[in-house]
Amino acid sequence: LREHEEFTKVKNIATIELGRYEIETWYFSPFPPEYNDSLKLYFCEFCLNFMKRKEQLQRHMRKCDLKHPPGDEIYRSGTLSMFEHFYITCGHLTVILRIWIRAAALAFLRRVVLKQVDGKKNKVYGQNFCYLAKLFLDHKTLYYDVDLFLFYVLCECDDRGCHMVGYFSKVRVYVSGYVAFRTIHAAYAEVECGLHGVMISIAGHRKRESDGRPKVFEAGGKWKCILHLMMQEKHSEESYNLACILTLPPYQRKGYGKFLIAFSAYELSKKEGKVGTPERPLSDLGLLSYRGYWTRVLLDILKKHKSNISIKELSDMTAIKAEDILTTLQSLDLIQYRKGQHAICADPKVLDRHLKAAGRGGLEVDVSKLIWTPYK
Ligand code: ACO
Ligand code: ZN
Repeated sequence: LREHEEFTKVKNIATIELGRYEIETWYFSPFPPEYNDSLKLYFCEFCLNFMKRKEQLQRHMRKCDLKHPPGDEIYRSGTLSMFEHFYITCGHLTVILRIWIRAAALAFLRRVVLKQVDGKKNKVYGQNFCYLAKLFLDHKTLYYDVDLFLFYVLCECDDRGCHMVGYFSKVRVYVSGYVAFRTIHAAYAEVECGLHGVMISIAGHRKRESDGRPKVFEAGGKWKCILHLMMQEKHSEESYNLACILTLPPYQRKGYGKFLIAFSAYELSKKEGKVGTPERPLSDLGLLSYRGYWTRVLLDILKKHKSNISIKELSDMTAIKAEDILTTLQSLDLIQYRKGQHAICADPKVLDRHLKAAGRGGLEVDVSKLIWTPYK
């Protein structure tokens, strides 16, 4: 119910300034109450901190040392770069921290966490990011109770820095048990797991090392129990490969959306060897973009293979889920139902006609520029 109220709330912030753009917002976003009387907010385009006054932003820009989103740069081609950013959240803010770890995530967490310098900063960026994104998203994915957020932020880079164009996110929800930390009060935990044990560092925790860093707990004793709680990912059987996608308004209709879809959906899923689909519900623009992408990809393959291909084979080749293939081909009238089965019937002339109508593909993802390995 609370979520519903949030959706129906009227737009609070009318415009934002982000880098060299002034952008009109689309929807309500749950900024902290002290910002609710401002019609305009000023964002630092790199760390995404937001302020009520231009002078505050100018002061901030003099000391902000970020020139790109935090995280690993996992793709670079020409002036386009993609950064992978993540943060781990805990469902409850108090005594019990839920940390769900899946055996398969160990190597990944280790790789990523080692590279993150300051967990707290990471979380602040993640939150600012959500406030910003919600201004243009009208659905509830942002409110899910997730345990691990992965953001892939696409940037256009020049000598002033890397400017955010859009992003897509993935979420992971792990289930199966609670890990109780009786002595810790923190809203945020970073987990690092290695073969030899589990090490947990809690940012924002009261206990700190003498140099001010959050205290790090060594593996052993009660921490070992975590290893016995290897988790299952809750939604894995639904194979979502994307939670949210957004192109900031000044960059829309230039092919970035299709680039993000190709990147998320399919380049990452293909590398993981999984079939995937975006989370529902899709917005109107989301559906248009996905339909456009699926249509283009499927038509290109059908053109090469004529009709001698099954939906299953198409799905294996493209990492697109069979249901999405079926609905896309049905909408193009390329499916016949014969002897209790769906069959693709792609007349070359019909294909050509559709290909012409399908318009341009998005910006190409150059797979050789992807520096990323899935976490297994
Ligand atoms: N009017 C009509 N068609 C449109 C429009 C529009 N305003 N915007 C996109 N499309 C269609 C077109 O078919 C377009 O292809 P074309 O330009 O070749 O005709 C296709 O979608 C994709 O265009 P791109 O330029 O590749 O996509 P863009 O960078 O504009 O991003 C996106 C698309 C991400 C959906 C963008 O519109 C957006 O951020 N919208 C707001 C947030 C949103 O709704 N996100 C999806 C939510 S659903 C989810 O996240 C799972
Ligand atoms: Zn900043």
